[in-house]
Amino acid sequence: MNLPLFTTPNELGHYLQSHRSQSIGFVPTMGALHLGHQSLIDRARRENTLAIVSIFVNPLQFGANEDLDLYPRQLEIDRVICQTAGVDALFVPSPTSMGLKDALTQVIPPAMMMSGLCGRTRAGHFQGVATIVTKLLNIVQPDRAYFGEKDAQQLAIIRRIVTDLNIPVDIIGCPTLRADSGLAHSSRNQYLSIAGRSQAAVIYRSLQQAQKLADLQEVNVDKLLAAVTTELSTVPAFQLEYLELVDPETLQPIDRLNNAALLAIAGRIENTRLIDNVIIS
Ligand code: PAF
Repeated sequence: MNLPLFTTPNELGHYLQSHRSQSIGFVPTMGALHLGHQSLIDRARRENTLAIVSIFVNPLQFGANEDLDLYPRQLEIDRVICQTAGVDALFVPSPTSMGLKDALTQVIPPAMMMSGLCGRTRAGHFQGVATIVTKLLNIVQPDRAYFGEKDAQQLAIIRRIVTDLNIPVDIIGCPTLRADSGLAHSSRNQYLSIAGRSQAAVIYRSLQQAQKLADLQEVNVDKLLAAVTTELSTVPAFQLEYLELVDPETLQPIDRLNNAALLAIAGRIENTRLIDNVIIS
């Protein structure tokens, strides 16, 4: 059977109306689906009777100088991936059918959660994510929604929005899927050459150095971060944007490793911006 594809909230709403007695698992994406997305879909299928995937390259979360126009779009391939993965329905709205217009009501997450990490250089990004995710959750009204832990700041902010705005959904964070080299799967890996991909493995390798020190009871944040930057310096092609150790829920910087902490990194290889993180304790 062909995978049903809906392009407007109304069409999807009609379909969902006749399925409301089932539990709905929802995986919002921007397409260019990879193994990481497939693991979210698998989990949504396992934990619900209906799995819905959305594909929407959200203009609100791209800055003026970012890669909105270049962002990989491969609807036919994504459709096959979803069909093969057993998705029940695909939602592929256009910006117009999502009601995007100039004077749009926006969801503004707490400033303190947007000021560090990716928010430092991506002004407006998390407001754009928050607005579109809130709209999608209102349209789909799932029981559970699945997000990758690779986007740790996004995940923490979405959890916070759902709590603060009393949105009745369980937010499920799913572990980052990695290539054998340790490189986290990401839609943007497509931009990298083979050499770039192999250089990018330094990102996860360097994060692991902090965990190794933490295993030796090191709690000094400067020393933990220094272990990471030393490893990063072995690959000069990697241009570091940020490296921060923060509380995983509030995203505030920590000064000692007393509890589990989020070690998050962003940087560029071959001008492709990559992010990753680990929880260290
Ligand atoms: O993580 C993503 O792919 C996007 O930020 C999301 C959650 C689909 C919102 O556009």
